[in-house]
Amino acid sequence: MAHIVIVGSGIAGLFAAAKLANAGHEVSVITKQRAEDSSTNWAQGGIAAILDKTNHVGMEAHIQDTLQSGDGLCDETVVRSIIEEAGERIHDLVNIGVRFQQGTDGKYSLAKEGGHSEHRILHAKDATGKEIERALIEHAENEPRIHLKPNTLAIDIIQRHHGHPSHGVAGVWCLDQITNKVLTIEADALILATGGVGRLWKETTNPSVATGDGLAMAYRAGACVKDLAFIQFHPTALFSDSKRPFLISEALRGEGAVLLDDTGLAAWNQACKDAELQGIAIPFPEKFSFTKLHSPLGSMATRDIVARAIDQCLKESGKTHVHLVTSHLDKQRLNEHFPTIQRRLEEEGMILGIDPIPVVPAAHYMVGGIEVDHLGRAFLQEDGTNMPHLYAIGEVACTGMHGANRLASNSLLEAVVYAHRTAEYLIANPPSPYQGTRPNWRAEGLDLLGEHASIIHDRMSLRNTMEKEVGIVRKNKRLERASRRLTLFNNEVERMWRTSLPSREIVELRNLALVGHLVVADAIDRAENRGLHFNLDLLKDGKHEPTMKELD
Ligand code: SIN
Repeated sequence: MAHIVIVGSGIAGLFAAAKLANAGHEVSVITKQRAEDSSTNWAQGGIAAILDKTNHVGMEAHIQDTLQSGDGLCDETVVRSIIEEAGERIHDLVNIGVRFQQGTDGKYSLAKEGGHSEHRILHAKDATGKEIERALIEHAENEPRIHLKPNTLAIDIIQRHHGHPSHGVAGVWCLDQITNKVLTIEADALILATGGVGRLWKETTNPSVATGDGLAMAYRAGACVKDLAFIQFHPTALFSDSKRPFLISEALRGEGAVLLDDTGLAAWNQACKDAELQGIAIPFPEKFSFTKLHSPLGSMATRDIVARAIDQCLKESGKTHVHLVTSHLDKQRLNEHFPTIQRRLEEEGMILGIDPIPVVPAAHYMVGGIEVDHLGRAFLQEDGTNMPHLYAIGEVACTGMHGANRLASNSLLEAVVYAHRTAEYLIANPPSPYQGTRPNWRAEGLDLLGEHASIIHDRMSLRNTMEKEVGIVRKNKRLERASRRLTLFNNEVERMWRTSLPSREIVELRNLALVGHLVVADAIDRAENRGLHFNLDLLKDGKHEPTMKELD
């Protein structure tokens, strides 16, 4: 029987494992912390899906919203095929044990987020990812064919026949973080489901594991990567001086929460007082929102537009944050639907449904990734043919679904559909066991890394560079400065890497530095502004060239 190894324990990795195990395959799932330490676990919003295959109007609307959000760069065939498959995959998740929220009538409660023209997002209050992860982990733990390997950090892909990418994959070297030994894990097929790279930026909604490991490993092994300039900044992370950003789900705006700057907030407060005096209903705050200047959809425009609107507002005003107001909404309903957000606000001395929530954008999602075909198969840099036995699914993969800007709550959907496809492909075409030898890890002559403090410092300076020079709005000079720094940085990290025993710090720093370099290179290469890539130097005569989205 072939060895199938999955790296990553979010929705994509665990769902693929469930499918493969169900078909009789033994699957190892390697994960660098605990199984639940994945971006999926932190997803609040939900999973966009039209469940009824006969609802052609609903399906077409979801397709059009996705294409619109992707700003002309989505692969329409991919978008259509994923959205058409959504109902079946949701059915699978429910069978595995995921409990999506239902109303008293037994129908699923459907939420709305930015860029969606309809309510179509299945969710579990404001902790959808946690519920999905709970069910998938429970399933994995009860399935004897799935071997969860926590605390196992993937370092590099092992090539067949010692070295040429076109021969494909023979396994993966991993650091066992309990024994500190490097393991040679054999794989006849390797599925990367390692998530994103939010930790490359100082302010991010991502968990600590999001360090671009899978993308960096695949690139080093000779796989193609694509569209890395498209880094999605979530418009509304809770602003806090001291703590890491906490996501304030876009579903809150779907319920009617509105973004206001200081001036808008003052004007709305005054309008509320006037309305009270006159004994009339308070006005809806959207007409006071600065976001209206950027899109007729205002606070509910797609993420690229809203994040840019906030960025501009903060730069012009010199303020640290804008406000998300909810006091015009039904407090009981808010408490029922957003208990996680409510709890966190209470920790900060605020009350949902009363206090304006201070928010800022933060790095959230990697839209580009390892380029894959419709089955999740990676491509070779060398000649663009498939790289044998290497697959990528979930955030680490670039399928063409998201174009230049992912539509909210489309990522869990894409992940589950591609996990299914890759698993089905491997079930129908099991890889033949690799009979060749696998090289051992080059352990000789390596020293314990004696420069721990400098690594921490380096990681901070890398994040500061990305935050300052490769943010929501870019400029050529800044990108070029970042590129120079990252080149030096990569050389320095590689030098340390060649001579030191692997540790989580150095493995992650090496991956972050490489992915940072690739993001900047893609941003420099782009000749037009699309979706999430916005370079002021690409504005003709100081004007923004209209994108597909704006021309529509
Ligand atoms: C959110 O709840 O706003 C995040 C959902 C997503 O990133 O799709």
